[in-house]
Amino acid sequence: MVAAGEGSQVQAGGPRAPATDLIESLRAELAALAEARTLKHEVPLAGPQGARVGIAGRAEPVIMLTSNNYLGLAADPRVVEAAIDGLRRFGNGMASVRFICGTQTLHRELETTIAAFFETDDAILYTSCWNANEALFATVLGEGDAVFSDELNHASIIDGIRLCKASRYRYRHNDVADLERQLAEDRSRHRIVITDGVFSMEGEIAPLVELRDLCRREGALLAVDDSHATGVLGRRGRGTAEELGIHGEVDIVTGTLGKALGGAAGGFITGPQPLVDVLRQRSRPYLFSNSLPPPITASALRAFQIVDEDPALLARLRNNTDYLRGRLAELGFEVRPGVHPVIPLIVGETALAIQMSRELLDEGVYVSGFGYPVVPQGDARLRVQVSAALSRDDLDSALEAFGRVGRRHGLVA
Ligand SMILES: Cc1ncc(COP(=O)(O)O)c(C=O)c1O
Repeated sequence: MVAAGEGSQVQAGGPRAPATDLIESLRAELAALAEARTLKHEVPLAGPQGARVGIAGRAEPVIMLTSNNYLGLAADPRVVEAAIDGLRRFGNGMASVRFICGTQTLHRELETTIAAFFETDDAILYTSCWNANEALFATVLGEGDAVFSDELNHASIIDGIRLCKASRYRYRHNDVADLERQLAEDRSRHRIVITDGVFSMEGEIAPLVELRDLCRREGALLAVDDSHATGVLGRRGRGTAEELGIHGEVDIVTGTLGKALGGAAGGFITGPQPLVDVLRQRSRPYLFSNSLPPPITASALRAFQIVDEDPALLARLRNNTDYLRGRLAELGFEVRPGVHPVIPLIVGETALAIQMSRELLDEGVYVSGFGYPVVPQGDARLRVQVSAALSRDDLDSALEAFGRVGRRHGLVA
């Protein structure tokens, strides 16, 4: 171990700091976060994800309004049984990557199911959508190519683009005219436009019809990360494109298996056959990281089947979302309009959002507060997320708590 002050050597960039300085500076960073009251704390849940969740050390379960478990499948017995069956039949894992000895019939079954779901040629699995987004750009684009990304796209898209040698353009959020200007000026060979289908801080939907038209005119491919919309939006839960009437007309879709579709983990890219085939040959998260574990593969497969077999889930999600959005607005909260089960309640200051989130938890409702810099200054919010698992009783109890806490802070009458 190196003590402070020992072993310092002069380098080109100046004297090297003792190794312990890094740990001290990390300690100082944490102290500054605590001082600014922006240090993140995790709440230990004492059971599965669901409509009401047990919290370690707390007698009564709380109503869950802050998970991406949109269809309530995370602990659905059908999904849990499929995971157990997958575990029994295919084991815990492959101890390998797909192309060496890590592909099971189960993996191909899930990939063909995803392709059929999106009406695309084929699909390729990753262990997360983070990995999928990290794989996409660097594999298929290089020098002389270009990628155009909405400025509010998910962090995994931003990092995925950083790994790629193509020219990078950032267009203003949902601003098709800004993107059009950038595309018109650009002379690159191959071009991909990438957007979140749904932006999760707002539940806001990307203008995919206009983006599709523009991409066709400009000869660019349109890629959509539909993590928050797969299983959630559209008449049959196919996602943002189906919601907007253009199902099957997006060139490339990336998504997660860790939200509506069973809530475990895993991600995918689906699109034209040559794209999927090249990703299988060359994408680094696929080549150098273990294959998706069998219990998760089996449970995601079951989740896709349930979306089709049990349309009542999607209907319940819609009803719950409409009911909660309407009643929160009636109470007097500033509720942004929309159809997605993310309902942002704008409260203004970051400290107030965090304080209200704490008070709501005390009242038995688990909802997260988000402030600057995650959302613009003065636009801090409670982000309410609805699930099909919630009963009318859960929703009414939550609304009473919102009313009490909102009145306490003068937000509602
Ligand atoms: C739009 C979007 N893309 C990707 C991800 C990452 O998904 P995963 O958890 O599968 O890595 C998320 C999750 O927060 C997301 O919201």
